[in-house]
Amino acid sequence: MRPKICIPIVESLRDAIAAQAKKIAGLPVEMAEWRIDFYAGYEREIPGIIRELKKYLGQKELIATLRTEAEGGEENGSRFDYFSLAEEIIAQGAADYVDLEIERDSGRIMEICKKNADRRTKIIGSCHDFRKTPSAGFLVEMLEKAKMLGCDVGKFACMPKTVEDTYRVFSATAAMKEKFPDFPLITMSMGKIGEISRLYGGLYGSEVSFGTAGKESAPGQMDYRRMKEVFDSLYAGKRHIVLIGFMGVGKTTISCELAKMSNREEIDTDCRIAEKEKQSISRIFSTKGEEYFRNLETDMIDGLGKLPPSVISCGGGMALRDLNVRKLRAMGDIVLLKAEPETIWERVRHSKSRPILNGNMNIEYIKKLLKERAPYYEKAAEHVVMTDRRMPEEIAKEILEKCGKI
Ligand code: S3P
Repeated sequence: MRPKICIPIVESLRDAIAAQAKKIAGLPVEMAEWRIDFYAGYEREIPGIIRELKKYLGQKELIATLRTEAEGGEENGSRFDYFSLAEEIIAQGAADYVDLEIERDSGRIMEICKKNADRRTKIIGSCHDFRKTPSAGFLVEMLEKAKMLGCDVGKFACMPKTVEDTYRVFSATAAMKEKFPDFPLITMSMGKIGEISRLYGGLYGSEVSFGTAGKESAPGQMDYRRMKEVFDSLYAGKRHIVLIGFMGVGKTTISCELAKMSNREEIDTDCRIAEKEKQSISRIFSTKGEEYFRNLETDMIDGLGKLPPSVISCGGGMALRDLNVRKLRAMGDIVLLKAEPETIWERVRHSKSRPILNGNMNIEYIKKLLKERAPYYEKAAEHVVMTDRRMPEEIAKEILEKCGKI
């Protein structure tokens, strides 16, 4: 699902807070978050400010967030009486959401949720870790806890040290979504490394992404225009036919046939990468390494979403990254082409452009690699088509039928 973009309001004076809300009202985003802890005025004025902000924001939703210093917020936040303010905001019902920290006092949050069962202001039960990224199990546990306490949305923000930490936030989000499909989630990995979570968290089930139009409220937020550009492409609709599979299964031949038959453009991900890098794939592997190439693959998919309906022929390793598969699935139907190892060997044995098979051009190695990769291919595939001893026209026709394109 396309995430809503939310812009924070982090000014400390009432006039500046109002001015930021007016500015957000004119932007192509869905939400604003007022970080109350940045406010330097009196607690009693807060409900009035919320009403004013709602008026300026028009159709856009407002999150009123209470964050204390201990939870990564500003010092100001500690001056307010956290729970009485929370109850007042909920009773007022002007804000669309109030964000409360669940680790602060779970019992009290549960009580508030219960007491305000017919609330108009929904409660986001949030959890933060500004130092590290906990285990996937703990992340899921916290999101489940928000649900168990009676909150309407579960939120988790944590700090990655490595890109694997960010991927762990993705998998915890997906696991939680699978368990409770109807419970809305907002998850993010902060800082520079976590930037990808702000762009791609939606593919795993995170429903809001925080971006900036001015000052940031947490590390790693990026300009909302960059987010919008990526979202416009990723969520432009399922329009392409995407061919995946091992080297030599016939992706290039079949995509050419499919393009002819269905009057679509043919896009080869390897060709696009080689053109952009002005280097052959083999040369990219030998000079920059496989990881560099894999990152190019992941990045290039973003640009494919808004193209007219096309046939996309993917490099053989494209389906090995879950993020690639999720991006491609948002854009089209994924078709896995399969062939026997012997057929593959026949087709690639004279190839000089398969760095993965360099020095290992034999059936045994192909079998071994196929076995390693099969679970990824099968998991990614929405349709499966065999290509051994068949004519391209016949295969292309089967694919068009399976994808409901004829
Ligand atoms: C690769 C397959 C190649 C190319 C690169 C890596 C792989 O594409 O992307 O050499 O890891 O299987 P083809 O499947 O089109 O040969």
